[in-house]
Amino acid sequence: MAKVLVVTSGKGGVGKTTTTAALGAALAMSGRKVVVVDFDVGLRNLDLVMGAERRVVFDIVNVIQGDAKLSQAVIRDKRIETLHLLPASQTRDKDALSAEGVARVVRDLREKFDWIICDSPAGIERGATLAMRHADIAVVVTNPEVSSVRDSDRIIGLLDSKTEKAERGERMDKRLLLTRYDSGRAARGEMLKTEDVLEILSIPLLGIIPESQDVLKSSNLGTPVTVGSPTSAPARAYLDAARRLIGEKVDLTLQEDRRGSLFGKLFGRRAA
Ligand SMILES: Nc1ncnc2c1ncn2[C@@H]1O[C@H](COP(=O)(O)OP(=O)(O)OP(=O)(O)O)[C@@H](O)[C@H]1O
Ligand SMILES: [Mg+2]
Repeated sequence: MAKVLVVTSGKGGVGKTTTTAALGAALAMSGRKVVVVDFDVGLRNLDLVMGAERRVVFDIVNVIQGDAKLSQAVIRDKRIETLHLLPASQTRDKDALSAEGVARVVRDLREKFDWIICDSPAGIERGATLAMRHADIAVVVTNPEVSSVRDSDRIIGLLDSKTEKAERGERMDKRLLLTRYDSGRAARGEMLKTEDVLEILSIPLLGIIPESQDVLKSSNLGTPVTVGSPTSAPARAYLDAARRLIGEKVDLTLQEDRRGSLFGKLFGRRAA
């Protein structure tokens, strides 16, 4: 059965779009049929990170407004056959996404794909609630700093109240993805510790993605980091997180860029 996953955070610039592309590609590489959907109407970043910006003809707003069919707007990735993108529009106003239209698009995507991964815009306004509305599972992207944790807490509140699942009285499956984690800064006390974040947010940990230049290098080349630089520390962390999403038990190791050592320090805990 198809799964709808929302990548959300509240705070902007924490790594949602990077995560959507990296997890989407990782799941597609394992043979799943995946579509990543850009809900960030107005900004439209996901097509850039996916390297598809020149191939965008129609977008989600065109589909919702009846100007294009879903099959015309969905772009197939050139590298991974099972990976697809439904882009956002750049020019139209943010209210162009109607609640009914989004519901229809998600329902149609459920018939065609195994995973529908929704890249949420920043904030806790309409765009973010539309992106999470139909989700079965939420990846809450959080940086180890107070403002990001606070915004994630607010998003968790919305996931538990404003989604279809919550309204049906069902439990939303929420996972924490700690991103841009710098073990040196954490050791010096300049960042929150993983334990502190987990204690505040109290949702299961999906993974820890290290701060790494490989992320920016890959996105500048229009490649999800799991495709462009699959042996890099952030890619390995994303690949592990994707395996956890499909139910595999993968020990949580802190992936670090250490020459000569593929795996970093082993954490004394199991991931969600
Ligand atoms: N693990 C990482 N290491 C280093 N840089 C990262 C990492 N993850 C994300 N970044 C960088 O942080 C910036 C913001 O990332 P991204 O666009 O994915 O965030 P976002 O949450 O989608 O932002 P917005 O809220 O604006 O949509 C980008 O420049 C990206 O390359
Ligand atoms: Mg984004």
